[in-house]
Amino acid sequence: MRALVIYYSYSGNTRKVSKILAEYLKQKGEVEITELKAQDESDKFFTQALRAFKKERAEILPLNFDLSQYDLLCLGTPVWAFGPAPAMNTFLDKCFGLAGKQIVLFTTYGSGAGNNRCLNYMQKILARKGAKDFRRFSIQQFKVNNPEFVLSQIREILS
Ligand SMILES: Cc1cc2nc3c(=O)[nH]c(=O)nc-3n(C[C@H](O)[C@H](O)[C@H](O)COP(=O)(O)O)c2cc1C
Repeated sequence: MRALVIYYSYSGNTRKVSKILAEYLKQKGEVEITELKAQDESDKFFTQALRAFKKERAEILPLNFDLSQYDLLCLGTPVWAFGPAPAMNTFLDKCFGLAGKQIVLFTTYGSGAGNNRCLNYMQKILARKGAKDFRRFSIQQFKVNNPEFVLSQIREILS
């Protein structure tokens, strides 16, 4: 099995979860892990939230958008204003080669407001590109430092 974990993380929570997920998947096959970096990002909460709320796309560094070589694709983002972060939106738009693919969508969140809406938004875009089998999990921001808990959520959807 060949898997890709691709994620965006501003303050590190989603990065922690992504690393735990990648380590878990290494038991099953080959795993690549890639962090999306926004080039045009504000460090102001309000601007970040507004851009996310308007479903804006960020400029991201060039990377491979062809996902056809992977068996499993895992996409992670923090929930920002009830949706994905703008860098993840860009990746969702640009990626291709998803026909029939198994997808894991994951989020980290604060209050949980908009978490499902965020996952649904991501799923809808990828389903339009032919992805078929969706699994999802979410970790509250104060639980990202509990690897056993994070692993239990991963095992629940993947084993
Ligand atoms: C701009 C911004 C908007 C946010 N909006 C939401 C939200 O709508 N719902 C929610 O539950 N958490 C929200 N949060 C909290 C983040 O989702 C949470 O802190 C997440 O774990 C951050 O992940 P990161 O450390 O990988 O960047 C928001 C945080 C920021 C910075």
